[in-house]
Amino acid sequence: MAAKTDRLLSVLKLQPVVPVLIVEDAQSAVPLARALVAGGLKAIEITMRTPAALEAIERVANEVEGAVAGAGTILNPAHFDQAVRAGSQFIVSPGTTPELLAAAAGSDVPLLPGAATASEVMLLRDKGYEVLKFFPAEQAGGAAYLKSLSSPLAGTLFCPTGGISLKNARDYLSLPNVVCVGGSWVAPKELVAAGDWAGITKLAEEACSLKA
Ligand code: 3PG
Repeated sequence: MAAKTDRLLSVLKLQPVVPVLIVEDAQSAVPLARALVAGGLKAIEITMRTPAALEAIERVANEVEGAVAGAGTILNPAHFDQAVRAGSQFIVSPGTTPELLAAAAGSDVPLLPGAATASEVMLLRDKGYEVLKFFPAEQAGGAAYLKSLSSPLAGTLFCPTGGISLKNARDYLSLPNVVCVGGSWVAPKELVAAGDWAGITKLAEEACSLKA
């Protein structure tokens, strides 16, 4: 577990913001990921929310130099296995189930599991998880809530995701228990649809200049 945690941390520490992508068209995933990498965001989470997701992960993993492709919205062992076979180097889930944790335990690919309450964090700590996704961050109580977990649950680090943007990212990044944040704001639908890759690189650069 320690080696997997180290690998996960080294991916999450590549940048202050992990882009969360909902890819409708696998073709566009490659220029989109290239635009994000050009702006400094290398670790990229592609969510399993569309039929294009697996092909997008595969293409980003194989074709985008410098990218670290990950899979998000992993809800069950089947998703986990498919995402790993497509080349995901990290796996993200909004919450956990015993079945998902069992699949993760049998794989070398690290899981960033979601948690939003002290009890969920404690259950995952008992399973050896030291780095968690705090989801949905803003809706569950925001930076103030997460800060209040830092003393009783010291030693657990978080990647908060959900409702985060350039405006509030610093509130999280300044907390002692935050390693990075996640968000979809760096890849807005309109810019992707327009193929405005330069615009996306600019958003990535802005995000990258936030300090963890
Ligand atoms: C996620 O899957 O982590 C969230 O949907 C991303 O949240 P956001 O769209 O509010 O950034």
